[in-house]
Amino acid sequence: MNPFESLGLRHDGRTLWVLDQTQLPDAELWLDGSEPDAMIALIQRLAVRGAPLIGVAAAASLATFVQRGASATAYASACAALRAARPTAVNLMWAMDRMKAAADPEAEAQAIFEEDVRLCEGMAVHGSALIQDGEGILTHCNTGGLATAGIGTALGVLRRAHEQGKRIHVYADETRPLLQGGRLTAWELMKLGIPATLITDSMAALLMRDGKVQRVLVGSDRVAANGDFANKVGTYGVAVLARFHGVPFHPVAPFSTVDLACPNGAAIPIEERDPAEVRGYGSLRWAPEGMPAWNPSFDVTPVDLVTSLVLDRGVYSAEKLRSGVLASLLG
Ligand code: MRU
Repeated sequence: MNPFESLGLRHDGRTLWVLDQTQLPDAELWLDGSEPDAMIALIQRLAVRGAPLIGVAAAASLATFVQRGASATAYASACAALRAARPTAVNLMWAMDRMKAAADPEAEAQAIFEEDVRLCEGMAVHGSALIQDGEGILTHCNTGGLATAGIGTALGVLRRAHEQGKRIHVYADETRPLLQGGRLTAWELMKLGIPATLITDSMAALLMRDGKVQRVLVGSDRVAANGDFANKVGTYGVAVLARFHGVPFHPVAPFSTVDLACPNGAAIPIEERDPAEVRGYGSLRWAPEGMPAWNPSFDVTPVDLVTSLVLDRGVYSAEKLRSGVLASLLG
C-alpha cells in the first residue's frame, strides 16, 4: 500500500493505524487495525466510527490483510465479517462490495480513500454556498475529519464556510449517549478555530426559540431512495424542532451513503447497542445497575422534515427527493 493519512486513519505502507476515538479528547492513541478481526472490534466499540470512515478503514484493513499474504478464502470471509460489523451505515457495505469485486484490493482501498476525500470536497462546495454570513448553525454528532477520510460531511461544509470568511457560529449538540458532539466535534471545532458553543441535546429547543439558530446541518448513515435518512439518534428530534421554528434543515452526505435498495426510511436497519451505554459512560454509572434501558444508535428523519439534501454533486430539495431524483442520479 502507498502510505496515506487522514485525521483518524494512517497507513505507513505496512501497518494500518487508527486513532482511538473513544479516548478523545484527552488522549491521542493510535491502534493497529491491520488485521480484519482487530478492525471489526475497533468498529464495534466505535474506536473508529462515522459512516464514510468505517467503509474506508475496513477497506484499508482488508488490503493490508492481502499485503500480508491472506488466502482468497480468508479474504472472502474477512470481507463478509467486516461488512456485518455495524448494520446502519451503508458506506461499510458499499466499500465491502467494492472490495469483494476488486481485482487489485490494494489499489481499490487506495481509490476508496481518495474518493472519499474528493466527495467531502464536493459536499463542501455545494453546502457552503447555502450558508449566509452571520448564521448560527446547529449540528449533531460528529461529521468531520474524524468521521471521513477528508474534511467531513456537515462539519466539512461548516469548515469551508468559515474558511470563506463567513462569520458563522456553530452550536454542537453533545449527542447522548456516547457524546460524539461533546468529545469529538468540540475537539475538531477547537482545532479549526471555528467559533462554537457546546450544548446538551435538550437545550436545542430553547436555542431555536431564542432565534440563535438559522440553519441545521447533520450527517447521515443511510439515505433511502425517497430521501428519508438515518443518522445518529436525536437527529429526528432536531428536525422536528427545526420545522416548528421555521429553521432550514439539511442532511449532508456523499453518494456512497445513498441506498436505492431501501425505498424509504422504514427499510433502514437500525443498530441497537448495549443498554449500559445509557446507564453510564466509561467507568461512571449514574443509573441503578440493571435498570432497563433502550439504546437505538440511530433514528430516521422523514424527507418531509428535510429542506434539502446536500450531496457531493449538488443540493436537492425535499420535493425533488420525493419525486425520485436520487434514482435518476445514481440508478
Ligand atoms: O455511531 P457513529 O458515531 O458512527 O455515528 C456517526 C453519525 O451518526 C454521523 O452523523 C454519520 O456517520 C454521518 S457523518 C460522517
